[in-house]
Amino acid sequence: MSGARIIDGKALAAKLRERVAAQVAALAGTVRPGLAVVLVGDDPASAVYVRNKNRETAAAGMASFEHRLPEDTPEAELLALVASLNRDPAVHGILVQLPLPDGIDSAKVLRAIDPAKDVDGFHPENVGALWTGAPALAPCTPRGCMTMLAEVHPDGLVGKRAVVVGRSNIVGKPMAALLLAQHCTVTLAHSRTQDLPGVCREADILVAAVGRARMVEGGWVKPGATVIDVGINRIPAAEEGRTRLVGDVDFAGASEVAGAITPVPGGVGPMTIACLLANTVTAACRLAGVAEPAVRLL
Ligand code: GUN
Repeated sequence: MSGARIIDGKALAAKLRERVAAQVAALAGTVRPGLAVVLVGDDPASAVYVRNKNRETAAAGMASFEHRLPEDTPEAELLALVASLNRDPAVHGILVQLPLPDGIDSAKVLRAIDPAKDVDGFHPENVGALWTGAPALAPCTPRGCMTMLAEVHPDGLVGKRAVVVGRSNIVGKPMAALLLAQHCTVTLAHSRTQDLPGVCREADILVAAVGRARMVEGGWVKPGATVIDVGINRIPAAEEGRTRLVGDVDFAGASEVAGAITPVPGGVGPMTIACLLANTVTAACRLAGVAEPAVRLL
């Protein structure tokens, strides 16, 4: 039996979306936040994310613009689309879904996005702002993880030992920056870290974002720790020919030891899009030169 508190990402994301919708309503007549999502190629997982993003953007009362380009789109054409979205006053947030097809330089495309509209927080200017403590649009998945941690630790994270497993630009690195900004002592570990289990066992806050199914075992978790599982891995299910989603953490084992833990699915996943909507409202307000409506539901 699980002893840990299960952190309900679905419920928390619903609250966050409600807050965003209330902000959008409060902005009526001033600015209508608009998000443009660009999908190149037909990666099935990306197509699902993009569909969900569009649905939730519209449900929050925001303008939603979808651009689907074929797999063989030349880089120059994608850059031209980004340039036109940068100029479009109805667009406040631009998200180019990753990964991009081979032959397109992702870094070049991300650098082409106006940093003021970079709701993913992937532009080097926003990455630099995040690490130097300036107000920035923080990447959505780490921002969602921080919201979940705030829920479990209402008194803050000052002085806590945090271990992030995984060093991607999308999750691991920005997560480390956000934890550091909250005064955690942060270790950024990865698949090649020596004695990874021992390093993880030191963590009051353990974030798994390494992309390996159930790699973090129960024995790697410090008793009472808060475990945030960012992994989304598809593995064969018990029934022939079916698959199921599991995280980077062995949930059954870890939930015996942890104080609080996120499930997969229903944990970090739903938070990401909710944070994307929140970032779009922030970007729209900054671009329009108006204060962000202070709506407090969380
Ligand atoms: N692909 C997987 N996660 C993300 C994300 O957060 N943003 C973008 N643009 N692409 C992704």
